[in-house]
Amino acid sequence: MLAEVALLKEKIAQIEISDAEALESFRVGILKKEIPALMARLRDVLPEDRKSFGLAINELKELAQNRFKIAQEQIEAQKVRADDQPLDLTLPTLANALGSVHPLSLVKNRIIEIFERIGFHVADGPEIEDDWHNFTALNFPPNHPAREMQDTFFLEKDPDIALRTHTSSVQVRLMESQKPPLRAIMPGRVYRNEAISARAHCIFHQVEGLYIDEQVSLLDLKQTLFHFAREMFGQNTQIRFRPSFFPFTEPSAEVDISCNICQGKGCNVCKYSGWLEIGGCGMVDPNVLQSCGIDAEKYTGFAFGMGIERMAMLKYQIRDLRLFTENDIRFLRQFRSQIH
Ligand code: DAH
Repeated sequence: MLAEVALLKEKIAQIEISDAEALESFRVGILKKEIPALMARLRDVLPEDRKSFGLAINELKELAQNRFKIAQEQIEAQKVRADDQPLDLTLPTLANALGSVHPLSLVKNRIIEIFERIGFHVADGPEIEDDWHNFTALNFPPNHPAREMQDTFFLEKDPDIALRTHTSSVQVRLMESQKPPLRAIMPGRVYRNEAISARAHCIFHQVEGLYIDEQVSLLDLKQTLFHFAREMFGQNTQIRFRPSFFPFTEPSAEVDISCNICQGKGCNVCKYSGWLEIGGCGMVDPNVLQSCGIDAEKYTGFAFGMGIERMAMLKYQIRDLRLFTENDIRFLRQFRSQIH
């Protein structure tokens, strides 16, 4: 009897189950017929042999069931693969979703491009600054209102350290570390303690310009900014200077460009004045040159600082500053065609 069990065991091990049909005949033939038939013969076995026969037949049953289960899984898996569409290598690939350059980067890159062509290089400085570079070296008197808490983010632990409030601090670093002639622009992020609105933000971007050499004059400043304005906003753009005050320049001026929307005729963007402000400028105050170790008898220079958001708003007619930082894909996608 045990010999019959061994025989069936061998048969089960050798049987080939490669498709659903073979699987079914295994189920019907072995699981439902041959094994139950062997089991039925337990009755005929001598009582002393019953235990070993029972164990052997249980083992056989388990083996057959396992065999069935594994074969079933393999056939299922084959079926799923066969149901898949055949691989069509001629299909076009999915288009890569290209991002777009952020409008502030577009404007910054354009500014760099314009100034590099006329001999300015790009300089950089830290966003966390000390009082010397952000204020003192730039001729800010100790009690100047811009140093106060409402404008500047100071570090809690050290009131000498703050987030820079303007890129003018990079001017100081440049003058301290290099000898004239100096000709650089310094784009970067700046921070001010202001409530966020359509027209103001606590984080924004400026580009600083500095030119120091012998005999640099106000005329050089005017020509440089005039050239820049025409390259940036179109060849018909006019500029004008309005007298102003900054501690680090003397004389100082605010720079306006003719409104690029109404061509100076007057519209609601320029508030019917025909002019739009883009930044401040002036001749570097001799005190600043001296603070930075530059001989103010020998050298003169001009400086300017312009808002990058401001220029992007004018260039692309964006009415709300917050759009630059909200990451709204519908806004950003509109700059997809610009590749700078
Ligand atoms: N730093 C000034 C500001 O943030 C802008 C500025 C004005 C920069 C005149 C200059 C300058 O270099 O000459 O408002």
